[in-house]
Amino acid sequence: MDLGLKGKVALVTGGSKGIGKAVARGLAEEGAKVAICARTRAELDTAAAAIAKGTGGEVFPVAGDLTREADVQKIVAATIGHFKRIDILVNNAGAAPGGLLLDITEEQWQQALQLKFMGYVRCMKAVIPHMLRQGGGRIVNIVGNDGVKPIGVELTPSAANAADLAVTIALAEQYGRDNICINAINPGPVATERWDGLVAGIAKVRKISTDEAQKRAERSIPLGRICTPEEVANVAVFVASDRASFMNGALITLDGGQRKALLD
Ligand SMILES: NC(=O)c1ccc[n+]([C@@H]2O[C@H](COP(=O)([O-])OP(=O)(O)OC[C@H]3O[C@@H](n4cnc5c(N)ncnc54)[C@H](OP(=O)(O)O)[C@@H]3O)[C@@H](O)[C@H]2O)c1
Repeated sequence: MDLGLKGKVALVTGGSKGIGKAVARGLAEEGAKVAICARTRAELDTAAAAIAKGTGGEVFPVAGDLTREADVQKIVAATIGHFKRIDILVNNAGAAPGGLLLDITEEQWQQALQLKFMGYVRCMKAVIPHMLRQGGGRIVNIVGNDGVKPIGVELTPSAANAADLAVTIALAEQYGRDNICINAINPGPVATERWDGLVAGIAKVRKISTDEAQKRAERSIPLGRICTPEEVANVAVFVASDRASFMNGALITLDGGQRKALLD
């Protein structure tokens, strides 16, 4: 199936590792030109070179911190300067500290919302004017199933994700007539560096070993294992493509049917 992505320009945030890197690679494999951003220049350059080498695609690394509005403007301007347009935005760079209500500080709440929620809002605000000028675009928000299946040990991610989903639906409604389709993908646990930190955090709060926390996570998923970054990328690439032309405001569950109550 031709996804119609050849020559399209995509910006993938958090494209140096994990899910973002897999999405950037998936888009490049389909012939898209890809800009990737993250804070750590060296990792970003290494990822860009690896994706370009592996796919033969054009990959443009641009460093910046999405918690700063000026950096977001700079990243989008650099992408437009390099590729002359942006057809696809994949909002993916996100992290929110775990913990229980009585332990999470005011500062940690601010930190959680700064990147995972406001980072997504900032990028959409910076990219949408270009998509309006170009006559359309696709935005894929990689969110997380905590937003619809919240649990106490993942309180700040749950709240930030729910806010991302609300904004996804609201903006999909607002910009549908402008041919800008905005959708969200909600993975459960995905095997990345971030998951390694999350599962260790869950183990600490539950007072169990990391191995036991990992086993409980796998048991909570009817498929009996956690997701791979490539499995998220496969869905994201499709949603970003012309083949998903009637998909707008969708909140796509991608968690193997996870039942979070079984994590206890
Ligand atoms: N892994 C999971 O189990 C899982 C489950 C559900 C949803 N998700 C969501 O999927 C997304 C990707 O997760 P992941 O596991 O692939 O994460 P990851 O492996 O930790 O990668 C995060 C990426 O974001 C970049 N990043 C972090 N902070 C940034 C900032 N302030 N500005 C710019 N870039 C920043 C990182 O590079 P630098 O550190 O160099 O900036 C890196 O490229 C996140 O939004 C996460 O919430 C993950």
